[in-house]
Amino acid sequence: MKILFVCLGNICRSPAGENVLNHLLKQTPYQKQSDSITTDSAGTANYHSGGHPDSRMVKTLQSRDIEVTGRARQFTVKDFKDFDLILTMDYSNYEDVISLTSDKKLQAKVKPFASLLTEHDDDFIPDPYTDGQAGFEYVVDLMFDGCTNLLEQIKKS
Ligand code: 4NP
Repeated sequence: MKILFVCLGNICRSPAGENVLNHLLKQTPYQKQSDSITTDSAGTANYHSGGHPDSRMVKTLQSRDIEVTGRARQFTVKDFKDFDLILTMDYSNYEDVISLTSDKKLQAKVKPFASLLTEHDDDFIPDPYTDGQAGFEYVVDLMFDGCTNLLEQIKKS
């Protein structure tokens, strides 16, 4: 299963999702499951294309022993074909991605990441870019919540 995380800049929220899911996959005792899941992330905007994840997010993830990889890139229509599940972080990301195709089957691959949350009741993942450290920590908490549930769902399916 190919999973793509999408936010606006691809330097804070979606790299957090990708790297938290990779971290959980490394820990999973279900080797077959981790072998069959691949991850990536992208931004709806191209402001930061080619850049590293935001240094504040890198520090936050590393403080929890999470390895951080990836460079920013912009979402493209090809991603609809290349990925099975496209997880968007907020309403604008969702609308921006959905508006790039009129194919209902491709649109059905797009889901709000917040729909995976079990321990938080946020409707979207808040953009931490202009927040302090607490905003970055909170995004990582949300990624752990949703990604843990996602792996549970995949395991059951
Ligand atoms: P992200 O956060 O979408 O979670 O990567 C942002 C990063 C950069 C900007 C906005 C949001 N920006 O406006 O540059």
